[in-house]
Amino acid sequence: MRIIAGSARGTRLAPAPKDVRPTADRVRESLFNSLGQYFEGGMVLDLYAGTGALGLESLSRGSDLAVFVEGDRKARSVIHENLRRTRFVDRAEVVGGEVEVALGWLEERGEPFDLIFADPPYRIAAAEVGSILHRLGSLLTPGGRVVIESGEAPAEVAGRRKGVTRRYGGTFITILGRSELTMIVAVCPGSFDPVTTGHVDVIRRASTIFDHVVVAVGANRRKQQAILSAVERARLIEKVTADVEKVSVEVMDGLLVEFAREQGARAIVKGLRAVSDFESEFEQAQLNRTMFPELETVFIMASAEHSFLSSSAVREIASLGGDVRGLVPDGILETVTEIYSGTDDKIKGS
Ligand code: PNS
Repeated sequence: MRIIAGSARGTRLAPAPKDVRPTADRVRESLFNSLGQYFEGGMVLDLYAGTGALGLESLSRGSDLAVFVEGDRKARSVIHENLRRTRFVDRAEVVGGEVEVALGWLEERGEPFDLIFADPPYRIAAAEVGSILHRLGSLLTPGGRVVIESGEAPAEVAGRRKGVTRRYGGTFITILGRSELTMIVAVCPGSFDPVTTGHVDVIRRASTIFDHVVVAVGANRRKQQAILSAVERARLIEKVTADVEKVSVEVMDGLLVEFAREQGARAIVKGLRAVSDFESEFEQAQLNRTMFPELETVFIMASAEHSFLSSSAVREIASLGGDVRGLVPDGILETVTEIYSGTDDKIKGS
């Protein structure tokens, strides 16, 4: 294994100790090509550093300083040897111990990095790496990037692409920007049978507070079965929120807290109309908090003009031949009137 480019180009690196899987040369080369071949100064953090090949390559290509974090003692002596070979001893710091602990004191030190490599051994589960990711945001400069190497494709969450992933044989490289790591996601759940102008108002207002809002269409087992399937209700919401870039719509099958966990959400957002809503919402919020204490429930007060509006009122008015204009968004007025007035085949059959 050699340094590919820059001031130490061609330097042969010391072999990796047993159990350490160095990034293949071909992958390293493609990775640095996508990062932009050469760097103009800046700080690099190489987590799970192994032989230190990624941090060393960055130093060779112009980074000012590199911090290598490696828990394995033998691997750390290989990094020291490689620093000697490349003559980068004065531009590097080698840290032992757990990555979690090292992150703690790097956060305290407060010197941000332009580039962070997280190349964990494949035996470290993706979930464990996921749990340190949100901490890396605070260690990055505004334009900084995190590079994650993994043996499995990262999960795509609700149409939100987290970074850019490239595949090299069995290796997946994902490059993330700072905003993708510090993004605060909220889930806005409900049965939306059907979605009303009041719901859309709450969803839109939530999207001005959070970085992304996932509308979760679920089943309220305490209510009668919905006329439309969850997928159909979700399509109606998608139609009336299509102009809000920060909103996506998903069907939720199980528990809300599990759905929120999968989405990486930090909050549940609900609309609150009157005191009568409070009791049930309070109960749900407390139960959800028992199951997932870190997930906050946030209430948005309904606008005065929507304080009387409910899906059940829309269903009742439509089924009795009344006009629901203004109660549901214009874009779905016809569809909702047709379906809920019973003129559609679906309601006849239910
Ligand atoms: O619009 P609704 O009927 O008030 O929505 C209720 C909903 C779907 C948000 C709620 O029933 C829910 O969270 N369902 C998912 C199942 C769950 O997590 N239940 C425990 C909540 S205490």
